[in-house]
Amino acid sequence: MGVVVLDGKRISQEIQEELKPRIASLVRKQRPPALAVVLVGDHPASQIYVRNKIKACRDLGIRNVEITPPGDITTAELLKLLAPLASDKSIDGILIQMPLPKQIDAGLVTTNVIDPSRDVDGFSAYSLGRLVLNEPAPRACTPAGIMEMLKRYRIAIAGKHAVVVGRSNIVGKPLALMLLHENATVTICHSRTQNLAEECRRADILIAAIGKPAALTADHIKPGAVVVDVGMNRLTDTALVEKLFAHDPARLTAFAKNGSTLVGDVEPRAMQEMASAYTPVPGGVGPLTIAMLMANTVQLAELHCGAS
Ligand SMILES: NC(=O)c1ccc[n+]([C@@H]2O[C@H](COP(=O)([O-])OP(=O)(O)OC[C@H]3O[C@@H](n4cnc5c(N)ncnc54)[C@H](OP(=O)(O)O)[C@@H]3O)[C@@H](O)[C@H]2O)c1
Repeated sequence: MGVVVLDGKRISQEIQEELKPRIASLVRKQRPPALAVVLVGDHPASQIYVRNKIKACRDLGIRNVEITPPGDITTAELLKLLAPLASDKSIDGILIQMPLPKQIDAGLVTTNVIDPSRDVDGFSAYSLGRLVLNEPAPRACTPAGIMEMLKRYRIAIAGKHAVVVGRSNIVGKPLALMLLHENATVTICHSRTQNLAEECRRADILIAAIGKPAALTADHIKPGAVVVDVGMNRLTDTALVEKLFAHDPARLTAFAKNGSTLVGDVEPRAMQEMASAYTPVPGGVGPLTIAMLMANTVQLAELHCGAS
């Protein structure tokens, strides 16, 4: 059998379709779910992420409240600005888009503004603690989306060796825990791991969440492994793009037109040649993150409206 391209876009659409009757039921019984999105400053990538999240809300009929303070706001001013949001019970989920500008105390803001019942991103200490305990709580959207995709593609996890490269609090660590709860044997690697390629070659399921373009190569992939590439790196270096996508003329044409392209943390050609299944970049993990954010918002709204 040929290599399977894990289509995150399709799974994301499926998940969002399934939310529609739940949203309709909330509207009938009480009110639409509501998500507040806080974007501080004008970080270009964050602006795109927030725009996509708001578009998804609108498409689904989730009410959204957008708060966009300037990038030079102080922590005290931000706390004051967001205080009404923190006590507004008609909001089901609050998302503060990261990264926050350097002068802001991100920990202080998130703990003061987002109580656990509205932690739609699943990043709070409470939600992460519940994940450790395998108790219900909103799960971080990117790892939750990856788990949902593996489930929907019926990729066996129990008893498999999963290697997660990256140990961030928003991707690597929660994903490692989710895989563990599904009975994988889990190895977590990071920038200090010795013999990274050797560790990765043990993986039946290899997850790359590093943030370094094409850092993992064919040397890191066991033949037949499932490879999930979380990385989203924008490339403008023509020589590098030509090297990485020499096998993909359509991508090179698009690059010549746009002047940039996205690449993951794994060499695209290595995934195609070595893996049994892999997520493309773009169109793999990215769309799943938004779908799970919508799913978390709806789930919190159901709890707040007493519908589940
Ligand atoms: N598609 C999506 O929806 C989505 C969502 C979130 C993130 N992302 C992307 O996923 C990537 C990772 O995001 P993140 O927020 O988890 O990043 P992060 O907070 O920067 O963490 C990166 C992790 O990778 C490890 N690392 C860095 N270089 C390494 C190397 N050469 N070998 C092994 N490990 C290395 C770091 O190790 P140390 O801990 O030792 O420093 C760290 O644990 C980024 O490209 C990001 O844009 C995509």
